[in-house]
Amino acid sequence: MKRTKTALITGATGGIGQALCSRFARQGYRLIITGRNPARLNRLAQRLCSAYGTEIRCIGMDLSVKGTARELCARLDQMGAVVDVLVNNAGFGLGGPFVENQPEVQQQMLYVNIHTVTELCRRLLPGMMERGWGRILNVASTGSFVPGPYNGVYCASKAYVLSLSRALAEECRGTGVTVTALCPGATHTGFASRAGMESTLLFRAGVMTPAQVAAQGYQGLMKGRTVVIPGWQNQAVYLLSRIAPQRLVAHISGVIQMPRQEQGAGPCPASGEPEPHQ
Ligand SMILES: NC(=O)c1ccc[n+]([C@@H]2O[C@H](COP(=O)([O-])OP(=O)(O)OC[C@H]3O[C@@H](n4cnc5c(N)ncnc54)[C@H](OP(=O)(O)O)[C@@H]3O)[C@@H](O)[C@H]2O)c1
Repeated sequence: MKRTKTALITGATGGIGQALCSRFARQGYRLIITGRNPARLNRLAQRLCSAYGTEIRCIGMDLSVKGTARELCARLDQMGAVVDVLVNNAGFGLGGPFVENQPEVQQQMLYVNIHTVTELCRRLLPGMMERGWGRILNVASTGSFVPGPYNGVYCASKAYVLSLSRALAEECRGTGVTVTALCPGATHTGFASRAGMESTLLFRAGVMTPAQVAAQGYQGLMKGRTVVIPGWQNQAVYLLSRIAPQRLVAHISGVIQMPRQEQGAGPCPASGEPEPHQ
C-alpha cells in the first residue's frame, strides 16, 4: 500500500506558512507543523483536520534558540515520523537603520532565517536521499537578489537562503530529491508589522496574498524548480537586479524600504487565518 507522505512546515502560524499548510492538506499530505504559539497551531490543525481529514501533529518551538532544530528532529524521531517534504518557512524581518536595530534581535533573526534552515536541511536531507524521493522548499525573498538598506540583515540572510538552496539543488541532482527557493516580494501577512515596515513604499505598493504565493510555491516545488519567483512584479525586480548598475539597485532598494512618516500610511493588513479552501 502506498505510504501517505509527510510534510514538515515551519512557521505554520503565519500567512505564507498557513497558506502552504492548506495546500499540502488539500493534496492529502500528513502534516507536522511548528510555530511559537501552540494555541494558534492547534486551531489551524483542527480546521484543516475537519476540512480535509488531515492527520496533523503540532510542535510549539522557538526556532531562534540554539539547539531547537536538533530538538525538533529528536521529536520527529520519537514520533517515528518520516519527513518527505521539508518547508523551511519560519522567518522574520527587521526594518530600520542597521545601527538602530537591537543587536539581540538581529542575532535571533539570523538564527531563525539561517541556522535553523541550514540545520533542518542537513538533518533531514540524508533520509530523503536514501529513500530516493524528497522535496525541500526554502522560503527566501526578492530581498535575496538585492542589498536591502533599512532591512539589510534580513536581505543578507535571505541571500544566504537562496545561495544555499541553489547549491543543494545542484548537489541533489539525480537523487530524486529537489530543493526549491521560493522568493516572494511584499505579501499581506504579519511580516510587515513585526518588521516595523508597514510605512515603507514596499508595503504600501502592490502586494500579493499568501494564498497566491503558496499556490505558486507549491506548484514550483512539485515540478522540482530551483527558484520560484511568484508574480510578474517580483520577476521584474529579479530582472532589474541583474541588468541595472548595482549602486542604482541598492539606492532604489533603500528608497522603497526606508521607514516613512506614518501619516496617511494605512497599516498593511495582516493575513489573519486563511480559510481552509485557500
Ligand atoms: N510577507 C512578506 O512580505 C514576505 C516577503 C518575502 C519573504 N517572506 C518570508 O516568508 C516567510 C513567512 O513569513 P510571512 O510573510 O508568512 O510572515 P508571518 O505571517 O509573520 O509568519 C512568519 C512565521 O514564522 C514563524 N516564526 C517567526 N519567528 C519564529 C521563531 N523565532 N521561532 C519559530 N517560528 C517563528 C511565525 O510563527 P510564530 O510567530 O508563531 O512563532 C510565523 O508562523 C518568512 O521566511 C519571511 O521571511 C515574507
